[in-house]
Amino acid sequence: MGKDIQVSASILCADFMRLKDEIKKCEDAGVDMIHIDVMDGHFVPVITIGPLIVEAIRPLTKLTIDTHLMIDHPADHIDQFIKAGSDVISLHAECYGKRVTGEIYGEFPKTVQSIDEKLARQDIRRIHGKGKKVYMVLNPGTPLCLGSLVGDIDGVLMMSVNPGYSGQKFNPIALKKIEQLRKVFDGDISIDGGVNDETAPLAVKAGANILATASYFFGSNDPRETVRYLKSLK
Ligand code: DX5
Ligand code: ZN
Repeated sequence: MGKDIQVSASILCADFMRLKDEIKKCEDAGVDMIHIDVMDGHFVPVITIGPLIVEAIRPLTKLTIDTHLMIDHPADHIDQFIKAGSDVISLHAECYGKRVTGEIYGEFPKTVQSIDEKLARQDIRRIHGKGKKVYMVLNPGTPLCLGSLVGDIDGVLMMSVNPGYSGQKFNPIALKKIEQLRKVFDGDISIDGGVNDETAPLAVKAGANILATASYFFGSNDPRETVRYLKSLK
């Protein structure tokens, strides 16, 4: 408890023509982590970026790179992202259980009620074996279903929007799950989606210690002040 608040800037809203400058902007603003939204067009409707971008960013910064894998069959790609320079691999719970929504191809969002802990543990061990951290990610419609895995992971990334796009409205369902989780989990709890000056205080109050933000940070006229404000929350 009482963890310092960290800010994770999602480059989904960065100007990719000027990626180097945008990473510098994150550093200058006092951001703690770079959040990379990897989307495959299957787990979520759109395609974004892959390991090549992580590899391009790696030499530009010493900041922690959190790679949020919104992809089917993450196990097939973990090694590539670690090789490219990821420090944290964020795995969706919805890749490890029977989907109750989004089971059909092209249907979104994907949700599960429970996960196969053994299957997830295999990937968690693989990532830990390479000395990197693992966060498990829960979509808004997926309940807290991590079971004994909470003892194995470094963090939980709680989605407060359905994954796929930046600039969506914050779903408060994430707050209840964070409150519940914080009672039993001392690791990192990150919130992702719709974070802004109104929602960030609620997330921190609920127990989140990492705030992932794309549009609020990259849309700010004063990124340093934005980060200072977020990090001052208690
Ligand atoms: C959504 C992504 C988020 C997104 C956040 O699929 O996982 O990380 O970039 O964007 P904002 O902060 O604009 O809601
Ligand atoms: Zn994300």
